[in-house]
Amino acid sequence: MERVFNFSAGPSALPVEVLEKAAAEMTCYGDSGMSVMEMSHRSADFTAILAHTKDTLRELMNIPDDYEILFLQGGASMQFAMVPLNLMVDNGRADFIITGNWAKKAYQEARRFGDASIIASSEDETFSYIPEFDASMVRSDIDYLHICVNNTIYGTRFKPDALPQVDGVPLVGDMSSNILSEVYPIDKFGLIYAGAQKNMGPAGVCVVIVRKDLIGKASETTPIMLNYKTHADKDSCYNTPPCYAIYICGLVYDWIKAQGGVAAMEAINKEKAAKLYDFLDNSKLFKGTVRPEDRSLMNVPFVTGDADLDAEFVKEAKAKGLANLKGHRSVGGMRASIYNAMPMAGIDALIAFMKDFELKH
Ligand SMILES: Cc1ncc(COP(=O)(O)O)c(C=O)c1O
Repeated sequence: MERVFNFSAGPSALPVEVLEKAAAEMTCYGDSGMSVMEMSHRSADFTAILAHTKDTLRELMNIPDDYEILFLQGGASMQFAMVPLNLMVDNGRADFIITGNWAKKAYQEARRFGDASIIASSEDETFSYIPEFDASMVRSDIDYLHICVNNTIYGTRFKPDALPQVDGVPLVGDMSSNILSEVYPIDKFGLIYAGAQKNMGPAGVCVVIVRKDLIGKASETTPIMLNYKTHADKDSCYNTPPCYAIYICGLVYDWIKAQGGVAAMEAINKEKAAKLYDFLDNSKLFKGTVRPEDRSLMNVPFVTGDADLDAEFVKEAKAKGLANLKGHRSVGGMRASIYNAMPMAGIDALIAFMKDFELKH
């Protein structure tokens, strides 16, 4: 069977070159005589893989030396707890901007550990926009401000030049669904976290990029595995890390570098997204659900306005090799997730199918 264009929100399509390289190295990595899955995480081969993966990510994202890069387990959802356990410490309070389900989950988890407060939300209009922000909105003495940078379900994003900033307050950003998709200024964040399974690799590893002065603040009672210091001190090898997932992330980082880096990905992603949004804006049948200036480059939700027709669209698209276009179960409609690995040919095929479907209906 031929590979389909996979519009899944996550786990998502990986570059075919990466899958082929992994397949070629599956049973024997280099001259090790074994698969990466079979080697000790303390071996010279895996130590080199980890170092290469970390260095390449640092280079791609232009991560300054005063930030640590950690490869952890537990997914992005584990960070909903690790962030407050490690950062909501000095004053025991943090503020949240709620732009969707994931931001809300981060807030709900933080409430278990301290004084978490919502300072802005777009829930009043089904999270179809990014709320206005002004530094005067945050409470005094907060330990951090949390945002979900790209909202996978609703398809909005905080743009790189519009990140909320408050003097002296670390910004924490969940970048699970848009890391490496466009250039973000890392120094505007205290901490970034991202589950790998959308734009970086397979499920099982979560990347945390954290300013070094924020490490080591967790209380004595924090479980050892949930303390950033544990993992920073041991270079993500305190216990067995998700070795194979880290290796695949490294291959994806190499692939992004070969495409010209994150700036080049951004240019392609903007072109891909513009093509799709432009079609939606001019369609008589389909329409986008997000305020134009807040649109995500990665997740594009759209509807026909008729739930039965939406269902038929998703079914027919699947038969044409356009997979996983069903919207999130909480919102319905359709969603095309067009991460780095989605080629322009996938966008063209989707638009051609939408044109046909529109003519028929
Ligand atoms: C923005 C965002 N944050 C967090 C998560 C949860 O990630 P995980 O399943 O790795 O815990 C997701 C998953 O889709 C997501 O899109």
